[in-house]
Amino acid sequence: MLKIALPKGRIAEQTLQTFASIFKEDFSFSDRKLRLIKGDFEFLMVRNQDIDTYVIEGAADLGVVGLDVLLEHNSDVLRLLDLKFGHCKVCIGIKKGTNLDFNKPELKVATSLPNITRAYFNARAVPVKIITLYGSIELAPLVGLADCIVDIVETGSTMKQNGLEPAQVIMQSSAFLIANKLSFVSKKDEILNIYHKLANK
Ligand code: PRP
Repeated sequence: MLKIALPKGRIAEQTLQTFASIFKEDFSFSDRKLRLIKGDFEFLMVRNQDIDTYVIEGAADLGVVGLDVLLEHNSDVLRLLDLKFGHCKVCIGIKKGTNLDFNKPELKVATSLPNITRAYFNARAVPVKIITLYGSIELAPLVGLADCIVDIVETGSTMKQNGLEPAQVIMQSSAFLIANKLSFVSKKDEILNIYHKLANK
């Protein structure tokens, strides 16, 4: 039995559809259920930010998670495969029609990705004050909480609808298949079987 942690939302749906097409079985969660046991798999539905915790702790053998989360958490897992879906970008967002003033004594940046943000500005020797938020990041520049934001952009519509625009792309992200290091040894054949099926689908 392989335990696989999936992030609630579109990436979970896409992963379950992919498994359905590979194994010719229906992998659908019933309403509000967080666990699905079917055939040789147990799927766990968890928050995107928590996927690597389940995998690191061995509560899941495998996980599907965005590269942005893996880099932000510097997760101690095996990164097996870029699944080539769940594409998004981590961008600096500013108020439309303005410019980022890198000469400010300290730039205030609101983000839910403080480590990626700090690394980006440190590498450019730009002094920043990082304000960590857990959602609705786009609001911060509109109410004077920050000069700019660093956030995920998928379609760009959240920034646009809030009068912001991407000023700079920091990184591209997509969903990755990850594995617990011990599981990769103890369940190597099962994991490699999945890996090859996903890589060659
Ligand atoms: C993410 C991100 C943006 C939005 C971008 O938020 O933080 O707000 O998606 O998507 P778009 O470019 O397609 O508009 P999410 O919906 O995951 O909710 P959150 O605020 O809880 O992070």
